[in-house]
Parts: sequence; C-alpha cells; structure tokens
Amino acid sequence: MTILGIESSCDDTAAAVLTDGRLRAHIVATQLDHARYGGIVPEMASRLHEQNIVPVVRAALEKSGTGFSDLSAVAVTHGPGLAGALAVGVSFAKGLAQALGIPLIGVNHMEGHLWASFLPGESEALRHPFICLLASGGHTQLWQVNGSGDYQLLGRSLDDAAGEAFDKGARMLGLSYPGGPAIQSAAEGGQPDAVSFPRPLAGDPQPNFSFSGLKTALLYYLKKLTEQEIKAQRADIAASYQAAIIDCLIDRLQVAVRLTGVHSVCVAGGVSANASLRSRLKSWSRTEAAEVVYPPLEFCTDNAAMIALAGYHHYKAGRTDDFTLPIVPGLRLDS
Ligand code: KG4
Ligand code: ZN
Repeated sequence: MTILGIESSCDDTAAAVLTDGRLRAHIVATQLDHARYGGIVPEMASRLHEQNIVPVVRAALEKSGTGFSDLSAVAVTHGPGLAGALAVGVSFAKGLAQALGIPLIGVNHMEGHLWASFLPGESEALRHPFICLLASGGHTQLWQVNGSGDYQLLGRSLDDAAGEAFDKGARMLGLSYPGGPAIQSAAEGGQPDAVSFPRPLAGDPQPNFSFSGLKTALLYYLKKLTEQEIKAQRADIAASYQAAIIDCLIDRLQVAVRLTGVHSVCVAGGVSANASLRSRLKSWSRTEAAEVVYPPLEFCTDNAAMIALAGYHHYKAGRTDDFTLPIVPGLRLDS
C-alpha cells in the first residue's frame, strides 16, 4: 500500500511517498522568507503553503515514480501547529482523498516526530514501553509510549520549549533564524563552561522543564557587555548557553528514566539534530545503561516522511478519519 504524507503545520511545506512502510521519496520546501523577521509570521506561512503545496506534492510523486492512481491513502498533519498553516495541508489532503476515493488519515505532528527515528523504514520501532523526549520549536515534552497510540505524559516545559530557547538566544546573540543550527555552529571552538548559566529545575523530582530563566540569564549577561565584547566572546557564550539547554534536557530525561524504570529512549523533534546533544546522549546512555535512538539528521526537523510513516501505522491499526477531520492547533498526543 502506498501513502502520500503531507505536512504544513509550521514553516515547511512537505510531501512524502511511502510504500509498505518504506520511504520512497520526500520533499521539503522550507519557507526562508521568515528568517528576516527572526521568527515565523503565521499569515505569511499560510500564503506560502498555499503556493507550494501543489508543486511539492507533484515533486514527491515524480521523484518516487508514483501516479495519483497508485495512492492507497493520504496522511496529513492536523495539529498541533498554526491554524492557517494546518488548514492548507488538511484542505488539500481532503480534496485529494475525496477525488481519488481513498482514505484520509489525520496525524498528530508530534507523533510524526516520534516515528522519525524509524525512518527511512528499515528499522523496527523500539520495544514498548519506551520514553520519548520530544524537543521542537513549540514543545518540550517527555512521554512514556506504552503501545501504538498509547501515550502517557511524564513531563513538559512549564514555559518555553527548548527550540524556542535556542531561537530566542540566537536572536539575542545576533545570530540567524532558526537559532538551533546557528548556536550550534557559533559554539564551535567555544568553552561550554566559560559562562555559568543556570540549569532551571535541575534536581527537581518531577521531569518537567523550564527554559525562561535561562533565556533571561543570557539577556542580563549580554546587557553587561559591549557589542565588541559580545563579538569576541560569542563562541564561549553560545557554547555555554547550548550546554545549559542540553544539561537541562538530559537531567530531566534521567529523572523520567529513573522514575519509570524504562531504559529505552527515543529523542525527537528539531532539537534532536543538535550534534552536542547527540554526543552527550551517547555517553549518558552508556552510564545509564539506556538504549537511545534518534532520527537520521534529515528527519529531525519537520518533514512529511514521518507523517506518512505515522499514518501507515494508523492505517494498519484500522484508524482512518472522515472528511470532517478538524484542524486542532493545540492537539495533544494523548487526546
Ligand atoms: O521540529 P521542528 O522542525 O519544528 C517544530 O515542530 O517546532 O523544530 C524546530 C526547532 C527550532 O527551534 C530550531 O531552532 C531547532 O528545532 N533546531 C535545533 C537544531 N536544528 C533545529 N536546535 C538545536 N540544534 C540544532 N542543530
Ligand atoms: Zn516539528
């Protein structure tokens, strides 16, 4: 069976084709226009999805050598995300599924991220239960995955998401958007212990996160410096700020692992692309005797391959949706 996956929840218009659980092709059109505003402009995101969706779907079909008549189902992100952005993908998917007379499958974007570790489809998912650390631009959450579609929230950020901490920190440091990759490269050659930033909630017995105090600490640190000093110290500041975010992620993950006794971990979302996080997790997994998987780099950030794979598992479990499928900007994994 062949599934077309569609993703338009934020600033990437993406389409993918998956046959029998294996990826055949995927295309991502990233909306670079937001960079000059230092963040996503929702109205602009909707307009660009509207412009890009047909060419992106056509390109994914062409690249995989698939015709519309070969499709068995259409899987689409219906939340969480920006309402106007989600509406473009969902409306397109409904129209296509209706015209072809094939099932429509609504996928939670975060569930898509969770499946990204098992792309391009050759590897098996972790044995249940496992813990998933989802760290993206909008969410930082810890879930216990007990089975397909069975998610239990262990902890979440009480304020900003980890990706948001990277994005806002980068803006303060005069770096580009998105901030994660920008801070990662600015941190190269810097000393991670040069500036002593706080680790909010470190040692707290509940596996929640908080990043707003860290962001404020960066703001106050930078206020004391001249532009020249910031420039000269940028690598050290970026490395120290990045290390603080990573320490928080690993400390909270460790609490979740110890609390549940579950030692299989899947890390997902845009922040899972971070090279320093990946190497720190590798050494942590050795000392904690945990098994850690993360997505191949190209599937860490938003894409439709993960939506198609999640949709495939819905389809196999007999879960499809009717054409009243709503967009749900605040959709939760356990709803
Ligand atoms: O999952 P994603 O592509 O979109 C959302 O669902 O939000 O995540 C985007 C976030 C952004 O905040 C971006 O700065 C962050 O992921 N990110 C990174 C890296 N690449 C992307 N953060 C740290 N290091 C990276 N290499
Ligand atoms: Zn995402």
